[in-house]
Amino acid sequence: MAVNLHGRSLLTLLDYEPEQVRHLLNISHTVKAERYSRQQHQRFQGMTLAMLFEKRSTRTRCAFETAFGEEGGHPVFLSKDDIQLGAKESVEDTARVLGRMFDAIMFRGFKQETVELLAEYSGVPVYNGLTDRFHPTQVLADLMTIEERFGDVAGLNFVYTGDGRNNMANSLMIGSCLMGMNCTILAPAELCPDPELVETVQGIAADSGAVLAITSSLEEALPDADVIYTDVWASMGEESRMKERIALLEPYRVDSAMMDMTGNDECIFMHCLPAVKGNEVTEEIIEGPSSVVWDEAENRKHTIKALMIATLL
Ligand code: CP
Ligand code: NVA
Repeated sequence: MAVNLHGRSLLTLLDYEPEQVRHLLNISHTVKAERYSRQQHQRFQGMTLAMLFEKRSTRTRCAFETAFGEEGGHPVFLSKDDIQLGAKESVEDTARVLGRMFDAIMFRGFKQETVELLAEYSGVPVYNGLTDRFHPTQVLADLMTIEERFGDVAGLNFVYTGDGRNNMANSLMIGSCLMGMNCTILAPAELCPDPELVETVQGIAADSGAVLAITSSLEEALPDADVIYTDVWASMGEESRMKERIALLEPYRVDSAMMDMTGNDECIFMHCLPAVKGNEVTEEIIEGPSSVVWDEAENRKHTIKALMIATLL
């Protein structure tokens, strides 16, 4: 049956089936090729997108804004200082107002509950541009980038190292297991993912044939890895915890010794960015030949355009 995502929100990839992610990735590769061959389209002409930000952003904001704008749509950037969102007006009321004026809403902020309320009350597609719990649009770009390197993600060995309970670890576990890619979360015991989420993702892995593992052992996690992925040690809103995180996470830094432990010369390095070079990854690795971080950043735009094409047209 043909995949139809018209009218759908993307709040977490837990709500998506593998064939729906496949559909989004297919459109992503198509729109990237269009851009490289200088084809222009006006798919969002006459449409409007509200972009709500409680936290800062470079890639996510620019990806949504340029992807929507270059297709003739009108994106409107609204920071927490510009609008009432949960302060003087409830999220539910804000959602109902925005839903009357905009074709879609993207939200970046703290609580997953906020993006869920926006979707429930606005009546238009809502895209999660990062919450404390999930960052699903980043994972679409990550899967696209891995496909560009390896052709197919199924059966590859993906290792995420670092803060194993943050939005990226959560979302990457879901995305890789959905698409049949083996996923290992390499993290100290204090920073391992929520057991309830792990149980849910184990169910997804059982359906796709992927293997999900959580470990604190570099020796267990790294041999035969095809992808090493890391993220900042203190996410937005957790900056005050940096000192304790450095103490816990130093052994989990991506450096040349870690890349060598994979025993795989083709292993690539990924990071959602922004990176704190010298903390979670050395300068040598992020700037070295195995790093695909700039492709990954560019692919945010193509995958976000694909998401909006699939859900709005
Ligand atoms: N990767 C990512 O979401 O980057 P920004 O915080 O710059 O949007
Ligand atoms: N875990 C990071 C991701 C940034 C894109 C954060 O939430 O700050």
